[in-house]
Amino acid sequence: MTAQPLDVQPTPLALLLLGRESDPNSERGVECPGDLPAPSDPGLVERARAAKEKLGERVFVLGHHYQRDEVIEFADVTGDSFKLARDAAARPEAEYIVFCGVHFMAESADILTSSAQQVVLPDLAAGCSMADMATAEQVAECWDVLTEAGVADVTVPVSYMNSSADIKSFTGRHGGTICTSSNARRALEWAFAQGEPGRESEDRSDRADRRNKVLFLPDQHLGRNTAVRDMGMSLEDCVVYNPHKPGGGLTAQQLQDAKMILWRGHCSVHGRFSLESVNDVRARIPGVNVLVHPECKHEVVSAADQVGSTEHIIKTLEDAPAGSKWALGTELNLVRRLANRHAAEGKEVVFLDRTVCFCSTMNRIDLPHLVWALESLADGKVVNRIQVDDETEKFAKLALERMLALP
Ligand code: 13P
Ligand code: SF4
Repeated sequence: MTAQPLDVQPTPLALLLLGRESDPNSERGVECPGDLPAPSDPGLVERARAAKEKLGERVFVLGHHYQRDEVIEFADVTGDSFKLARDAAARPEAEYIVFCGVHFMAESADILTSSAQQVVLPDLAAGCSMADMATAEQVAECWDVLTEAGVADVTVPVSYMNSSADIKSFTGRHGGTICTSSNARRALEWAFAQGEPGRESEDRSDRADRRNKVLFLPDQHLGRNTAVRDMGMSLEDCVVYNPHKPGGGLTAQQLQDAKMILWRGHCSVHGRFSLESVNDVRARIPGVNVLVHPECKHEVVSAADQVGSTEHIIKTLEDAPAGSKWALGTELNLVRRLANRHAAEGKEVVFLDRTVCFCSTMNRIDLPHLVWALESLADGKVVNRIQVDDETEKFAKLALERMLALP
């Protein structure tokens, strides 16, 4: 039997989110300056090609796996956020890095590249609702709550790559590390090892060798899934800090008893997959393998056959035997591409839940924005530059370097 290309029609909500005017996920409200080409312009592909050719080696275009096909077509390299930041750093000859992804990714690329390189985000409204769920003020207030409860100096912050440069900087300043969905377990093991007696630590405070807690920012699901599923902690070891409640909605005793203090943040795409969608797809497609991203809820991850980062999902599909069937719980642009790529090999790939839509902020980067950014650069005008200030960068880089040094 030959697998059919993925049959997914965007829901009315998805179509609404695809429009440029109304984007409930983006609170930035940043208008694109300059003259944006019309989406109906039949010459867009040719214009993008010509501008890129004119720029030559001076420009390097990065495309996150969740980007639209029309954008991926012009990416020099594709990958997850971590791989793309590293790819940018490995291209010192490129004067301009055009980041087709979201704001926190462009910030990380700016931190990891040289000061001679300029990072451009084609649409400044391409933020990330999860990253926006933890602001610098809220996290500083949380640290005060932890200090009051007597646990701040035994707590190591671990922040997901999907966070602002401010949060990464806070993490670096307080002896913590960044993680991605591929290395979250190694990052947590590193964090808990900071409390081992006699361990060499940069922190010389007298309680530094008693660190036994992690403050995990900003995705509660990745934190919980890694702690419970991968590291054998119990759900009772985890508490959720709600930045919208006084004291995070937790007592000092709860903070003292917890091993994992999870920030109350989530991905507005992955957080929508449900246990019902897993049960439904199993009933519809006998023998299907359910493979989901660890940003999904704990009940979804527990019911799935496999869990893994974006890169893991891509690799798993590549290695899968012909005739196998897969339901994927991750972003729709990627699922559609994988379904089309593997259909010819007889692998059936479906989207886990038809009511879940594209990541609306990832989708803000479209061909008109890319053409506008490339043509502006080709005309010698740097637009939508993402630049992290030196003080923030210093500690954010420290936190990122701790991640790069993870075993
Ligand atoms: P990765 O890019 O690390 O797979 O993260 C998933 C995601 O949601 C990106 O925004
Ligand atoms: Fe943010 Fe989720 Fe979109 Fe990734 S998929 S950019 S985490 S909202």
